Amino acid sequence: MKGWLIVNRFLYTDKFSELYDWLIRAAVKAGSDLTLLTNDLFLVNTDSGNVIYPDICAQAPDYVIFWDKDIRLARALEAQGLRLYNRADAIEACDDKSLTCRLLAGRVRMPRTFTFPFTYEHLGYNNLEFLDRIEAELDYPFIIKECYGSFGAQVYLAGSRAEALSVIQKVGGRPCIAQEYIGSGRGRDIRINVVGDKCVASMLRYNDGDFRANITAGGHMKQYAPTDEQCSMALKVCRELKLDYAGVDILFGRDGEPVLCEVNSNAHFKSIYDCTGINVAEALIRHIMGETA
Ligand SMILES: Nc1ncnc2c1ncn2[C@@H]1O[C@H](COP(=O)(O)OP(=O)(O)O)[C@@H](O)[C@H]1O
Ligand SMILES: [Mg+2]
Repeated sequence: MKGWLIVNRFLYTDKFSELYDWLIRAAVKAGSDLTLLTNDLFLVNTDSGNVIYPDICAQAPDYVIFWDKDIRLARALEAQGLRLYNRADAIEACDDKSLTCRLLAGRVRMPRTFTFPFTYEHLGYNNLEFLDRIEAELDYPFIIKECYGSFGAQVYLAGSRAEALSVIQKVGGRPCIAQEYIGSGRGRDIRINVVGDKCVASMLRYNDGDFRANITAGGHMKQYAPTDEQCSMALKVCRELKLDYAGVDILFGRDGEPVLCEVNSNAHFKSIYDCTGINVAEALIRHIMGETA
């Protein structure tokens, strides 16, 4: 079985290359040959719909692990008949947090969420009347999140109008959502890694010093067996968004009930391995081998 692992050329830190090594090692262990390629090696011709492949890609692979958010390339490869893990639609659904909310509306419990009005990046939010309208719907503190972000780095807690204004200044003109703050489990969430239709690993993340549970934001982790309710929420979300694998973040509601925080199509494996000893990369390769065989 031959596969391609397509990753982003411009986001190539040690943290990411380590993740690629995990996938390649897992593939080798399963007897599959996985070739690492970067997205810039492919040239998408949008008028013909063709993709110009790099020379080393003469033969079509049996599967593609698409560990990137280059949706245009992902769609073009799918149009050539390649099966991508995850699929382009699924990656897109997770990448934009406002789109995730829209696609899951009415399907699972989520915090009340409002989109910021669209502005132009070079203009920013140069009129702030929309904040009055958000304040009429959400009490302080509420969350402001950039629609595109990871590791908690683009998630803010606004405790007052002054803080909301300073966040708005900071985000410039980037798209954002304002979201109800689920304060019942401050700094705590559950990460469930789903592969195929199974919850394969999960951990509780907690941070006593910050409202963000992300490990990168200073959170700690503990082994955690998800409740049936949490597990079925994670599986439902993945089915709805057609994800083959994902890291689903779940908050604790007032009575401990699960409230969806966000869904990651490209969840990292290292922290969950350190916490649980479960190698999610191997589970993913097994899932792909099972489908491709
Ligand atoms: N609505 C919310 N209420 C309470 N905490 C939240 C809320 N949204 C996010 N958080 C906290 O912030 C963290 C990061 O938010 P998340 O949406 O998962 O963004 P990222 O993609 O950066 O991980 C979450 O893990 C959670 O601890
Ligand atoms: Mg998260």
